[in-house]
Amino acid sequence: MAKIKVNTNEKKGRISKYIYGQFAEHLGRCIYEGIYVGKDSNIENINGMRCDVVSALRELDIPVLRWPGGCFADDYHWRDGIGPKEDRPYMVNTNWGNVVENNHFGTHEFFELVNQLGTEPYICGNVGSGTVQEMRDWVEYMTFGGDSPLANERRKNGQDEPWKLKFFGVGNENWGCGGQMRPEYYADQYMRFSTFIRDYGEEPLYKIVGGPNQDDTEWMEVMMQKTAKNAGGVSLHNYTCTRGFKNKGSSLSDSAEDYFLLINDALRMEKVIQTHEKIMDKYDPEKKTGLIVDEWGNWFDVMPGTNPGFLYQQNTIRDAICAMLILHIFQNHCDRVYMANIAQIVNVLQSMILTDGEKMVKTPTYYLFKMMKNHMDSELLGIEYESPSYTKNGITVPKLSVNASEKSGEYLVTLCNTSVTDSEDVVIELDRAVSSASAVCMSAKSLSDFNDFDKEETVKPTDIPINCNGDTLTFTLPKMSVCAVSIK
Ligand code: AHR
Repeated sequence: MAKIKVNTNEKKGRISKYIYGQFAEHLGRCIYEGIYVGKDSNIENINGMRCDVVSALRELDIPVLRWPGGCFADDYHWRDGIGPKEDRPYMVNTNWGNVVENNHFGTHEFFELVNQLGTEPYICGNVGSGTVQEMRDWVEYMTFGGDSPLANERRKNGQDEPWKLKFFGVGNENWGCGGQMRPEYYADQYMRFSTFIRDYGEEPLYKIVGGPNQDDTEWMEVMMQKTAKNAGGVSLHNYTCTRGFKNKGSSLSDSAEDYFLLINDALRMEKVIQTHEKIMDKYDPEKKTGLIVDEWGNWFDVMPGTNPGFLYQQNTIRDAICAMLILHIFQNHCDRVYMANIAQIVNVLQSMILTDGEKMVKTPTYYLFKMMKNHMDSELLGIEYESPSYTKNGITVPKLSVNASEKSGEYLVTLCNTSVTDSEDVVIELDRAVSSASAVCMSAKSLSDFNDFDKEETVKPTDIPINCNGDTLTFTLPKMSVCAVSIK
């Protein structure tokens, strides 16, 4: 039996809503087909955005959406994506399968999507193959409300008012696909590019430095030394794989060993964050610079028979468990982690939604985000618990992961049980009387169960019984499950 004490008076910090951010890249079937089908499509759409996908995503209250990449961002020239569609030049998407990109989804379409989703935009600019002028002009085009040739061009293209834009990334993975730069060289480029990104809107832009991959401490050191004072945050990318990036494994593996390795790799996020936090604290003890984990999630081998450049994978309870473990880690570091964007929103890597032509399914990761969404903009609470653990081949993994938060007098406790074999009886004890509580859990019969097109959903949350007595709640956490307990 696991006993969890929730100290409702111990406020540990505000959980930024942006931790629940999403990412949409021009990659595979993410934008085209997954989100944007064009006005003439047989699939029901509003201004080209498919209604089924948008309406499902709206239920997640997505706080921020990153676009257009990823690696695509440093190959993207925004001017190709404005004006009449028939006049937009097409290009080869060399990062992702060498497919033709017709640029029908551009700046105006992105803001239309942001508007339909009720989210905030986060745009990543092109440092790798772009120019300072191109980047500065894009920002003026989007955000200047006065009389200027660029603002007037935006008006001519159908958008009178400037768009609200807070988050702007200055390049992506500039140590790799964004230009293979040395940290010192990129830091200089960041300073140069960002100097010319002006603030035209009411609020200053929150500029994001292209940060390190995984535990690249040298990159973080240089960014903190040379760029952080002129930025809002520094990004970090860290993906989860079964046996490392060269041996990612199948998204539908039902092997207990693969699962164990995957969980262990998801938990590596704690170490990665701690490592970078230490460096950031050295240069910024007041914690003004945000850590922006703008790419994270499970990355597996592509599904057999699909385009290797499209990064299409399936989604199971393993993904939901990994996502909860990682979101808990971000929340535990909420004094530094200001934003995170899971990769990616539809049809790519660890998606919320998968589509097949006009069909659509919600993945276990979608449901996990829905179960956890009330943590957004809440206060993280102090908790005490001891987790049982299990060991395999010298690696020890905790059985439980728990977070609790408070918002407007209501509490949310999210828990996961990583064990494939054993359920866990749980007692939650609060330091105050509880008037009502409900619990919702998601588990699966097998590690490889997934929600398939045209079939009944097999992995989705259901209500479970919970006993409430004074200040104490008791219930059983099923094996390999994620749960959310709402308490009043
Ligand atoms: O999310 C897929 C890719 O992973 C992104 O384009 C890139 O930034 C990262 O390497």
